[in-house]
Amino acid sequence: MTERKRAMLREEVLALLKARQGAPLSGEAMSQMLGVSRAAVWKAMEALRQEGYVISSAPRRGYALEDSPDRLSPGELMDPNRQVGKALVCLDTVDSTNNEVKRRAVDAVPDGLAVVAAQQTGGRGRRGRTFVSPPGGLYLSALLRPQCPLEQVSALTAWSAVAVCDAIQQVCGVRPGVKWPNDVILEGRKLCGILTELELEGETAALRYVVVGIGVNLSQTEADFGPEVAPVAISLAQALGTAPRRAEVAAALLDALDRLDRDFPGKWDSWLERYRKDCITVGKPVQVLQGSQARTGTAVGVDDSFALVVRWEDGAQEALSSGEVSVRGLLGYV
Ligand code: BTN
Repeated sequence: MTERKRAMLREEVLALLKARQGAPLSGEAMSQMLGVSRAAVWKAMEALRQEGYVISSAPRRGYALEDSPDRLSPGELMDPNRQVGKALVCLDTVDSTNNEVKRRAVDAVPDGLAVVAAQQTGGRGRRGRTFVSPPGGLYLSALLRPQCPLEQVSALTAWSAVAVCDAIQQVCGVRPGVKWPNDVILEGRKLCGILTELELEGETAALRYVVVGIGVNLSQTEADFGPEVAPVAISLAQALGTAPRRAEVAAALLDALDRLDRDFPGKWDSWLERYRKDCITVGKPVQVLQGSQARTGTAVGVDDSFALVVRWEDGAQEALSSGEVSVRGLLGYV
């Protein structure tokens, strides 16, 4: 068996054990399910133990997964019931998970391809900014091919923020807020950034695909963020005292993106309602940057197309869409 095949088998064995949620599964059953010998299953089990998995074994009952290291791998994240993440690439480091999805996004690649990384060397943010991406964060991008008119696609960025809030709430029990359009906020600082990129057909301008890229801060310290980012960023470890396992957060994100993929754009109204609840910008004074112009006003609502409605100081109201403007809080980061 080649090293590549051995690695794949290891991940498949892990996925089977995880699906049992701690209940035992016999080596015989696994060898039949995977079409390999019992000796190969045993070797995969030993290799997993070497990587830090605690796997108990009892005669006649089989193997049970008792504890797992904090590791991003297909065996940890695979779930055949999801379309998002069905094709999955896990990397220790990459320039940008969005770039990696784009490099792989040829026509035959299925909707839902996801790339997950533990570190990015060229993380990208909105408006051409750099997204500092040290170890301790989780960087995930997914390829989506929504069936909808182009004008609806920009709402995906707001929907993704709601999906991230769902995932964090599921794993950590706290629900972050959303700074319009899609910064995910905890304790007044940025917990997660989202970059949505579109690829259009050159001649027809039809949508080819969308890449949703998510960077969540899990265990970074002030020093990891660096002096420029630290005052406005927060990790789950800083906020909650402990960081969840990366694989648990990644799996919850894939679940949430899978729901998004199924609901978009059909369940528009229910996601809009949830977005309005999560959006912490509404009711706050804001500074709106449009090109070189800066204006101040108060955010008064989110309209039906997820645009931010701002009342200017002269009393006039305007709906701002996320591609056109950048919004800053006047009182601190949010
Ligand atoms: C922003 O806050 O400006 C958006 C940041 C988006 C960062 C994520 S991390 C995963 C994906 N890969 C990237 O290069 N960017 C996005």
